[in-house]
Amino acid sequence: MTQTITIPRPDDWHLHLRDGEMLRAVLPETARHFARAIIMPNLVPPVVTGDDAAAYRDRILAALPKGMSFEPLMTLYLTETTDPDDVARAASSGLIKALKLYPAGATTNSASGVNDFDKVRPVLERMAEIGLPLCVHGEVTDPDIDIFDREAVFIDRVLDPIRRATPALKVIMEHITTSQAADYVKAGDANLAATITTHHLIINRNHILVGGIKPHYYCLPVAKREEHRLALRAAATSGDARFFLGTDSAPHLDAAKQTDCGCAGCFTATNTMSILAQVFEDDGRLENLEGFASRNGPAFYGLAVNKTQMTLSKSSPPQYPSKIATPDGDITVFDPGFALRWQVEN
Ligand code: NCD
Ligand code: ZN
Repeated sequence: MTQTITIPRPDDWHLHLRDGEMLRAVLPETARHFARAIIMPNLVPPVVTGDDAAAYRDRILAALPKGMSFEPLMTLYLTETTDPDDVARAASSGLIKALKLYPAGATTNSASGVNDFDKVRPVLERMAEIGLPLCVHGEVTDPDIDIFDREAVFIDRVLDPIRRATPALKVIMEHITTSQAADYVKAGDANLAATITTHHLIINRNHILVGGIKPHYYCLPVAKREEHRLALRAAATSGDARFFLGTDSAPHLDAAKQTDCGCAGCFTATNTMSILAQVFEDDGRLENLEGFASRNGPAFYGLAVNKTQMTLSKSSPPQYPSKIATPDGDITVFDPGFALRWQVEN
């Protein structure tokens, strides 16, 4: 039985770091294990211009504790007034690695997102020209569509038409939660990929709702039926290079989750690598953890794999805090619901 594995240092291809005290509290949780992360731009106000991204990048690096190294890969929040020239400038300087598309109102801080997809066509065309990927929050916001169907409907109504109109655009379907999304990626070409979160490999919708409501398992897109979790797990552990890790680790203060109208987001930065090693081992695919967490993401983004490494071992069970403290209150760390075996050694 394998007791130790060493992989290139992993990256997180979908991460929420927030700002201010929250940023300072959560950044070490990611930087401890991950070399780089794609930083989501859904601040209030959002990160929309190259200047915004440069300033946010500086705040992230200023919040990084001494002795830790971490490279934030910046993104811009696509709005109906995004300027294609500003995007092209920020991309060619190396500052940004992607744009993020939020349908208006789809999730936390998405009010500035897109309503009319025709309005962003010139930006998408330019992105296709320069090879800048689009990260997509794939849920429709139509109140008539059931929340559990919003991802599948988005693929048919929004994503597929965008990809047909701009086939050269590189698209990452973020945090997929359905077999329909996994199948759509598998049927796609080399310009299509998907991130999968840690928590969607562990929980289905019963975990949120059976035996009392569990606010810390509520995120968007919401976890679906068990058959979808199994499809995601099969996709993630398969070795297919189009699937890679994006934790969507999304910190909210406990007070904002445990309330009448609780925020969406699971905070998984702290224990993700221990959970993933167990998931891949339990599925008999430990050899594919490296592709999912360390190789497939950089390959799709056209970046080098990290030269440093991470070793995980089963010598002693890992100990993780159940909460991360901030000056404004605690953030609850995702509880996978089972004892972890894999310790991150470095
Ligand atoms: C994210 C957040 O809190 O910013 N929440 C979530 O449930 N995933 C937004 C998002 O990625 O949808
Ligand atoms: Zn997210």
